[in-house]
Amino acid sequence: MSDRPAIDPAWGLATTALQAHLQPDAATGAIQPGIAMSVNHLFTPGEAAFSAQGVDDLAQLPYLYARWGNPTVRQLEQRLAALEGAEDALATATGVAAVAAVCFGLLRAGDHVLLSDVCYAGAQELVRTLLPDFGVAVSAVNLSDLEAVRAAMRPATRLVHAETPCNPLLRLTDLRALADIAHAQGALLSVDSTLATPVFSRPLDHGADLVLHSLTKFINGHGDALGGAVIGPRALIARLRARAGVYLGATLSAHNAWLILRGIDTLDVRLRRAAESAGQIARFLQQHPAVRAVTWPGLPDHPQHALAQRQMPGFGAVLTFQVHAPGPQVAQRLARHLRVAHYAFSLGHQRSLVVWLGTDEMLTSSYPLQGAALADYRRFAGDGVFRLSVGLEDPADLIADLDQALRASDDLPPHPNHTDDPAP
Ligand SMILES: Cc1ncc(COP(=O)(O)O)c(C=O)c1O
Repeated sequence: MSDRPAIDPAWGLATTALQAHLQPDAATGAIQPGIAMSVNHLFTPGEAAFSAQGVDDLAQLPYLYARWGNPTVRQLEQRLAALEGAEDALATATGVAAVAAVCFGLLRAGDHVLLSDVCYAGAQELVRTLLPDFGVAVSAVNLSDLEAVRAAMRPATRLVHAETPCNPLLRLTDLRALADIAHAQGALLSVDSTLATPVFSRPLDHGADLVLHSLTKFINGHGDALGGAVIGPRALIARLRARAGVYLGATLSAHNAWLILRGIDTLDVRLRRAAESAGQIARFLQQHPAVRAVTWPGLPDHPQHALAQRQMPGFGAVLTFQVHAPGPQVAQRLARHLRVAHYAFSLGHQRSLVVWLGTDEMLTSSYPLQGAALADYRRFAGDGVFRLSVGLEDPADLIADLDQALRASDDLPPHPNHTDDPAP
């Protein structure tokens, strides 16, 4: 057996991503973990299970049946917990399953949940559609407006669910302030940190109780596996594992856990490279004649740039831009003319992805906003945005690609600043 530490608090994030809970295989010395595909595990004579009187004894076994636990999935959970500075994690089949685990694992009839009015559409729809059927009251508010949050809290509020930066608006939430409000009322704060990843935000360091991820996005980072996770204190994760993990059955497959672990090996370097490119592209697009507005937390004119600087050690690899011409028309042409970036849904993959998200459609399908909340949505998104998830291509190639495709859309002359060198 190796005497390497499972984890060392002195390690930086890149080392933690590679090393935390990595165990060379005891039989072969293989460094790269194998995949434990078995659904079940032997009872070993002498183990508690042989004298088991009931489920509690079975639960003492490290592995029994893969819906309850699997060695490869467990290694992923430990690596994720280490990256977020947490005690434990529960991996789930998808990011939405992680949201469901929190909702159905923690809430009961009579409770109230407060969620961001612009968090990921799938989370919005899940919470607003399903929870009221189970007797849970739901309010959606702008969690960046702390007065609105205070006003919306109720004695029965058990959970505040935030997302920062949120997809697709890239609006941020002041996590420390939100945690203080939630905790004063005895509520937990869960934060979907999918866009930031632990490279650019560690919500538990700012007072959050639980961190959620769609592992499908940057953490896996290769567009070939769905996955999700809830990360936090041991007792809360144990509750979620016992309720959501076992009963809802949305268990992550060992194969996907292995792929995601391999993605995590390079998380730090991938994210830093993509975010650096995102900054170059954001600044380039700001000067582009076809572009009306660019939103990226690293730009000084992002409405919450000061908060981003305070709360995030980097600004992420997703940006949005608005165009002068009608969005759906530009979308058609980007889909036809892009040669490096891909016109497609999702984000956080190694290849850049761009997609049009029209405001009217988003309001109809996912965000029933009115009044000040609607005005705030339009402040970030206008009539619609192109969401660009920046990948690992050469930034100069992405800039040239976007430039030619945007010019094709409007028959504009070449961008005056466009050279083969990326914008500074
Ligand atoms: C911020 C955020 N959270 C959760 C999800 C859901 O993830 P999944 O598709 O893995 O269920 C997504 C998906 O786009 C997302 O963007």
